[in-house]
Amino acid sequence: MRGATADAATPAETVVPFHGEHQAGIATPAQRHAAFVAFDLRPGGSRDDIVGLLKIWTTDAARLTRGEPALADTEPELAARPARLTVTVGFGPAVFTAAGLERQRPAWLGPLPPFGIDRLEPAWSDGDLLVQVCAEEPTTVAHAVRVLSRGVTSLVTVRWTQRGFRDAEPGRTPRNLMGQVDGTVNLTTDAELDRLVWHDGSVTPWLAGGTSLVLRRIAMNLDTWDEIDPAAREFTVGRRLADGAPLTGADEFDEPDFEAVDSYGIPVIPPSSHIARARHTHDGERFLRRGYNYDDAPGPGRISDSGLLFTAYQRDPHAQFLPVQARLAEFDALNEWTTPIGSAVFALPPGVQEPGGYLGQTLFEA
Ligand code: HEM
Repeated sequence: MRGATADAATPAETVVPFHGEHQAGIATPAQRHAAFVAFDLRPGGSRDDIVGLLKIWTTDAARLTRGEPALADTEPELAARPARLTVTVGFGPAVFTAAGLERQRPAWLGPLPPFGIDRLEPAWSDGDLLVQVCAEEPTTVAHAVRVLSRGVTSLVTVRWTQRGFRDAEPGRTPRNLMGQVDGTVNLTTDAELDRLVWHDGSVTPWLAGGTSLVLRRIAMNLDTWDEIDPAAREFTVGRRLADGAPLTGADEFDEPDFEAVDSYGIPVIPPSSHIARARHTHDGERFLRRGYNYDDAPGPGRISDSGLLFTAYQRDPHAQFLPVQARLAEFDALNEWTTPIGSAVFALPPGVQEPGGYLGQTLFEA
């Protein structure tokens, strides 16, 4: 199941194939650990420089994901446990400007419009290139991030790094740090992914087989969340804490009944609840969620610095993600405890089909 966490018993040598029509790390059942690293191009970087960088990343990602050291690996021993490692690369708007490929830039690629709930910090927002690294083991993630970053320092600088984790019993939906079962309603079938996530090339031919990522860093105020009781928490989301079932259902995967009312005529799932507001109004508003918790070291005097690395993958963020986000920004009971503090959008090129190809080849050799 795509919303679920992969089998905890995955042996360290398990390999997720790097080559394929789509980049791994999107439809791949989510690994337990992730790092999202955004890079900025150094001034003067040319099209050839970017192609060179993408070739290095392709070679190294192909090697690391199958458990081999990268070409200039200074800790080759750390490559021996790929632990379902995936490396997924994305492009921000500046790639197209620097490479003189503005006309190939998807119309939706750029910062999202501001929302009233946003308190965005540049330190967590935007970026020219993205590397998303996921694996079952944090050491594997750390090694891959370091290898992929240190090989390209002449061309790019690190803008931000966001690390996250998610865990649950095998096949179960994980919980976020507010305690809720998070990831239940998701795209699950190949038909849904083909229709809603993977580009078919009709609008932007080079992106056929690719997609987009919206990454929102959303801080949780766990101190004030702690002040409300379990019933209020369940009304906030519209689902039960114990098992994630909708307030109108018995099982996590039961369809919520937004029309149901109690004996006083009051809706069982409050219209202000997160699931009532986030629910798609038509098929074209759906996207793939694959989020990670973050729990960073708190500053002095604080108890925690926690939240969600919310990720949405879709063909077109403007058509699919934006209306849902706009609805939530307008009203969502959850907003009292959550604050978006980072936001970034990337175009994720298709996968590299065969050894010898490189990430982004369809764009640069179009
Ligand atoms: C910290 C912030 C957030 C938290 C804690 C959170 C938590 C949850 C939880 C617990 C559920 C119910 C279980 C599930 O289906 O996964 C849910 C559902 C959902 N969330 Fe969020 N969420 C957050 C932010 C967002 C944002 C920013 C969006 C999109 C803009 C979003 C979109 C959705 C959607 C589409 C669903 C499924 C609704 C349905 O059709 O039932 N969430 N979220």
